[in-house]
Amino acid sequence: MKKQLGPSDAIFPVPAALIVSGIKEKANIITLAWIGVASSTPPTIGISVRKQRYTLELIRKTGEFSVNFPGASLYKQVDYCGMTTGRKTDKFKETQLTPIESKKIKPPIIKECPYNIECRVSKEIIIGDYIHILGEVLESHVDLDKVDNSKRAGFDMSKIDPLVYFAQAREYWRVGEKLGDSYSVGNQIKKKS
Ligand SMILES: Cc1cc2nc3c(=O)[nH]c(=O)nc-3n(C[C@H](O)[C@H](O)[C@H](O)COP(=O)(O)O)c2cc1C
Repeated sequence: MKKQLGPSDAIFPVPAALIVSGIKEKANIITLAWIGVASSTPPTIGISVRKQRYTLELIRKTGEFSVNFPGASLYKQVDYCGMTTGRKTDKFKETQLTPIESKKIKPPIIKECPYNIECRVSKEIIIGDYIHILGEVLESHVDLDKVDNSKRAGFDMSKIDPLVYFAQAREYWRVGEKLGDSYSVGNQIKKKS
């Protein structure tokens, strides 16, 4: 038996990512949970931003944004960037997060976030109160101290310690232990049958 919860908008877990828009001292950070991969070819990330967000104005000015994935320890800074507007607050200054130059876009990436993606807007889709923005990925970065060329990703995921978000509960969590390798462990079921 199951209890129906109604038309929920929340899937879980999702990242709580920090998106940077704008340039230099006008750069702004927003926390977004409605974010996902839209395509691998071309590599494209989708973000959903409410129409009234200051971030939307800034993204439209340059047509670019960076996506920064915080480690779990940054959960307070993440929450702060999700409760204050860049219209009134310099969120880089208040959180003491550090903007560093991107390689291919004008908005900076965030030094303290271990994994960063540079995007150029390829499409906007209106969905109710939101604008879903598709951003083609132009470059990505990982902290040098997380690099491990023996791993498939080229870095060690356990050192990234990504922050995850349970939107329905409004709770920040960290990831547990690795269970297995994808496109591989499923074979154990096939072999039995
Ligand atoms: C955990 C978390 C997730 C959020 N996810 C989204 C989201 O996906 N889309 C959105 O428009 N706002 C989201 N918000 C709200 C914005 O981050 C918030 O309104 C922010 O203050 C807007 O910043 P800005 O005015 O500088 O653009 C989220 C907030 C939190 C705390």
